[in-house]
Amino acid sequence: MIKVGIIGVGTVGTSVVEILQKNRDIITARAGKEIKPVFGVVKNLAKNRGVDIPLSDNVDDILNDESIDIVVELMGGVDEAFEVVKKALSKGKAVVTANKAMLAYHRYELQHSANRQPIGFEASVAGGIPIIKALREGLSANHIESIKGIMNGTCNYMLTKMMNDGVEFDEILKEAQELGYAEADPSFDIGGYDAAHKLLILASIAYGIDAKPEDILIEGIENINKEDIFFANEFDYNIKLLTIAKKSGNSVELRVHPALISKKEMIAKVDGVMNAVSVVGDRVGETMYYGPGAGGDATASAVIADIIDIARDVNNSPMLGFKKILENDILRLKNSDEIFTKYYVRIEVEDKIGVLSQISTILGEESISIGSFLQKQSKSSKYATLLFSTHECCEKNIQNAIKNISKCKFVKNYPSMIRIE
Ligand code: HSE
Repeated sequence: MIKVGIIGVGTVGTSVVEILQKNRDIITARAGKEIKPVFGVVKNLAKNRGVDIPLSDNVDDILNDESIDIVVELMGGVDEAFEVVKKALSKGKAVVTANKAMLAYHRYELQHSANRQPIGFEASVAGGIPIIKALREGLSANHIESIKGIMNGTCNYMLTKMMNDGVEFDEILKEAQELGYAEADPSFDIGGYDAAHKLLILASIAYGIDAKPEDILIEGIENINKEDIFFANEFDYNIKLLTIAKKSGNSVELRVHPALISKKEMIAKVDGVMNAVSVVGDRVGETMYYGPGAGGDATASAVIADIIDIARDVNNSPMLGFKKILENDILRLKNSDEIFTKYYVRIEVEDKIGVLSQISTILGEESISIGSFLQKQSKSSKYATLLFSTHECCEKNIQNAIKNISKCKFVKNYPSMIRIE
């Protein structure tokens, strides 16, 4: 029998216990041995978790229990969780974690500390989608050309409701929290950080790149408003929080930001809490993965798959996909101002003569050409909102142009920009 201790019995931890108990027959048949949740650790013992395993508020009760084989870390956070996982490994226990924030900062140290101890982290990226396994095992013959996806269920749920039903941001965030999709601190979701953590984990497996969140471009969905939704609908786009890794030559760009995507694209049709990841390999071509990206049961499904792998004793892949560093193919992380794409810009201005010509002069000075344009009058008619898209240009140029436009006296607020993919 394999005994499992769970640190953090919240939405996901509760589902892990319940699935291990209710699906015991199929799990035992697949693993070849019974897997039993035997103990849980929580911060607040007064809160009813609805699980019938003993609980304590002391992690050492699991770490010092020699009979526990696998520690499931679902406590969240970065440094405290890292210390707990290292301690579990040092005590000879296998670890399964869904903690993408910890992995975004400490994945290489953990790979080193683990040595031969298995660490499963399938649940850390895209909830129920087995994307780690696909990338690390299924596509290991390929150079990975790109990874593009929707990897935050909370943001996708919110954007879908905003686009389709015109629901306001705050109202819909509350709903996503109630459904158990959002992080304990939802600014990780809406600020793009959660998706960035996931991207960094995938980038290690795909490219062997050790980047931290501070090294890459991360923008969230906080600034998306009704005008942006109006422009998107008018020009047949959907707005999605996109997670992108793209290799060109010896460099890789990694970025997370909202993007306008043509409604005809497959990824634009991924709605609600669903996630989707497209991976392009040089030999296989494009592969697509789709499934629930958040929620108790979906995430627990991935946690338990890792537990079963450990019980089967098949977990001998290198944690981050490489046994040896690539010697002739050292990849450079691109600066975010080197990105080339199309842009959508929203500017609130005083509605008076000469405004448009000054804006187009500034854009011309930065070699930026306008694609489409809309003007929306405000109720007072003193102000107007200018909405336009550009042809492809360099990030550095659009950032310069926006900075220069923001200095014009007729501009009300700092202009807002969304990339078009
Ligand atoms: N808060 C995350 C999301 C949970 O919304 O995608 C799954 O990682």
